[in-house]
Amino acid sequence: MKIIIRIPRLTTTNKRRIGIAIALLIAVTIYYYGNKVNNTYVIQKYLTFSNYIMWRNKTLEIKSSMEKGNLSSIYKLNINSVNTNTIKKQNLISHVNVDIIEKDHKVKYTVLILISSHVLHRSRRFRIRETWGNSSMWTTKHKYKIVFVTGNVEDNSKMMEIVDEAKLWKDVISLDISEEFYLLSKKVIVALSWAKENFNFKAILKGDDDTFINLDNVINFINENKISDGYFGSVLKGQIVNRDGKYILTQDEHKKNIFDPYCSGGGYILTNSSAQKIIPMLDFETNITNDDAYVGKIALTLGIVPTNSKGFHMRNTWCEYVKNFKVSHPIDDPDCNSFLLKKSRIDNGQLRYDPQLEKQKYYKNAALLKYFAD
Ligand SMILES: *[C@@H]1O[C@H](CO)[C@@H](O)[C@H](O)[C@H]1NC(C)=O
Ligand SMILES: *[C@@H]1O[C@H](CO)[C@@H](O)[C@H](O)[C@H]1NC(C)=O
Ligand SMILES: *[C@@H]1O[C@H](CO)[C@@H](O)[C@H](O)[C@H]1NC(C)=O
Ligand SMILES: *[C@@H]1O[C@H](CO)[C@@H](O)[C@H](O)[C@H]1NC(C)=O
Ligand SMILES: *[C@@H]1O[C@H](CO)[C@@H](O)[C@H](O)[C@H]1NC(C)=O
Repeated sequence: MKIIIRIPRLTTTNKRRIGIAIALLIAVTIYYYGNKVNNTYVIQKYLTFSNYIMWRNKTLEIKSSMEKGNLSSIYKLNINSVNTNTIKKQNLISHVNVDIIEKDHKVKYTVLILISSHVLHRSRRFRIRETWGNSSMWTTKHKYKIVFVTGNVEDNSKMMEIVDEAKLWKDVISLDISEEFYLLSKKVIVALSWAKENFNFKAILKGDDDTFINLDNVINFINENKISDGYFGSVLKGQIVNRDGKYILTQDEHKKNIFDPYCSGGGYILTNSSAQKIIPMLDFETNITNDDAYVGKIALTLGIVPTNSKGFHMRNTWCEYVKNFKVSHPIDDPDCNSFLLKKSRIDNGQLRYDPQLEKQKYYKNAALLKYFAD
């Protein structure tokens, strides 16, 4: 028997057909893998109870293999067959599990404030909402927004609470990243990427849930600032890199034994221009656990230098009030919070002059006084 195979001649038309077929095949492949990533990993923003449980199961599974030292599993959400930047970016934002925050691209915020907050630090978030986070405490007419960035813990009931808190206050996002200190960089990277994607701002202020922010002064500072690539705060120099222990950074990961200068994470400001440049360069897979140092490192590689600025009071355990301060940290005593707020409001004309308070420079912390008395 004779088999005749007819090979079509490579006319221009046939070449074009083959070309179209190959292009179609590539398109379908990309579409398939793209959707696979979407379907498998992107979690609904508005949680119902059943998909909430599914999400919990997945994050617990990730956490348990993480504890066995299998770091690659944290990046499971990021592993993709089609390794394009677009998909990587989508996946970063998909670490945000709960996001009920109002967004309007037409609104220009003078400052978007991202507060890293442990999910269990409920009372700190409430204290902020009642004190410096309450807009009626300040005179500014400029727009700003405060967002608490929380992570994941194993206790389901706590996670249900944060969903309720997010629904009630619309100022919390919940990430699928475990609340371990060595994952703080990932929290900040996701929060910054989410902010860049969703908001139009003149500046971002990154702070912690034990930070006090004088909003009037911060907003004046941002409005008066002329430096486009700004990175302002309290600059730390010569911070030592961990070369052993659990949070080791090898020479490959960071050559020098000290970190380059960076702004302390109790509160620093990135101008819009700096944020737009820095955020796309942040690598979710970084092994640098110190989020502040990591942001500083990326900033420097882009030529964005941290600037030591007046009024960023870090390590202010004495709870000292200085006129025109912008940020004070750490505030672990509710009365210190009230003290700074009162003093700020007397200075911005919202409260009457108080001769008693006028004399007082520090909040007199009972615990501290006792410590020095002993
Ligand atoms: C979640 O995990 C539990 C046990 O760990 C299992 O019984 C349940 O079926 C899982 N739920 C879903 C939706 O995967
Ligand atoms: C680590 O986790 C990944 C993703 O979950 C998995 O494919 C791999 O088998 C794990 N490796 C080990 C050594 O457990
Ligand atoms: C904010 O301040 C106003 C005016 O004092 C008060 O009515 C409101 O309850 C405060 N909000 C919070 C969350 O404390
Ligand atoms: C921030 O930068 C982006 C990108 O350059 C720009 O589109 C946006 O208008 C800027 N926003 C503000 C408030 O300056
Ligand atoms: C982070 O550490 C892991 C495990 O030690 C290593 O495989 C990976 O290459 C490191 N990542 C970077 C960006 O250096």
